[in-house]
Amino acid sequence: MQQENIRYVLVWSVWLRLSHWIIAGGVLFQIASAWALAHDDANAAFWLDWHLITGQIILMAFALRVVLLFFPGSSNWRAFIPERSQLQAMIQMIKFYLSLARFPLPNWYAHNPLWLPVYPVFYLVLAGCVISGLLYNSSHVFFGNPMYELHGALVGLIVAFSIFHIATVFLHDLKGKGAYISAMVNGFRYFHYTGLDDKAGSGLPGKQSADFSDKQSISVDSIKKQFD
Ligand code: HEM
Repeated sequence: MQQENIRYVLVWSVWLRLSHWIIAGGVLFQIASAWALAHDDANAAFWLDWHLITGQIILMAFALRVVLLFFPGSSNWRAFIPERSQLQAMIQMIKFYLSLARFPLPNWYAHNPLWLPVYPVFYLVLAGCVISGLLYNSSHVFFGNPMYELHGALVGLIVAFSIFHIATVFLHDLKGKGAYISAMVNGFRYFHYTGLDDKAGSGLPGKQSADFSDKQSISVDSIKKQFD
């Protein structure tokens, strides 16, 4: 019987995690404060102030994320370009969702292969939302739409993204062995592999292989893109 080993790999840098949690917390606060603005007449000025302050904090975290696109690691812009080899994992992800999580999760390194193309689109929508928020009361129009209408439409997309994103990351964490959510907290993910030639105690397997489904073995390095 082959022994299962676990490799503990840093996939998310501290700066990526910082920008993620500021944007995540900020977006959730913006949704709550926008709701309060529409319902709490007595404290409308209070909620508007905090909505504007949080919008500017999100803008700074977004600027940090843009800067990170040009640094090595999983935050690099090249990480958002899907590779041919990831196509198989994307199909496996679709099967995982369609089978209501009965099909095994595929292997991936940092970003989930199916969600990978969604993140840049999300960031563009977020940028549009911040800009239309800053110009909310201006007379600017975008394809005939005033800024407040554009802001509302983009918020709808962000709310939909947030619901699906949070639900799916919890589902991946529940069904997978990679500790995906805690990786977004401490940076490290677990990679399970089977190999006989692990150098005991070093934590670095001679033959680097990760096994998620217990039925197939795949090299950690083969799913890790070379961004460094
Ligand atoms: C409890 C709430 C949340 C948890 C636990 C969480 C967790 C995660 C995890 C585990 C990943 C990596 C996903 C992957 O494998 O592809 C991720 C990525 C990401 N999350 Fe969240 N997330 C949360 C809320 C949010 C919210 C509210 C937003 C924005 C609306 C957001 C935006 C993103 C983005 C844009 C990425 C891609 C990271 C990048 O490369 O910049 N997350 N999140």
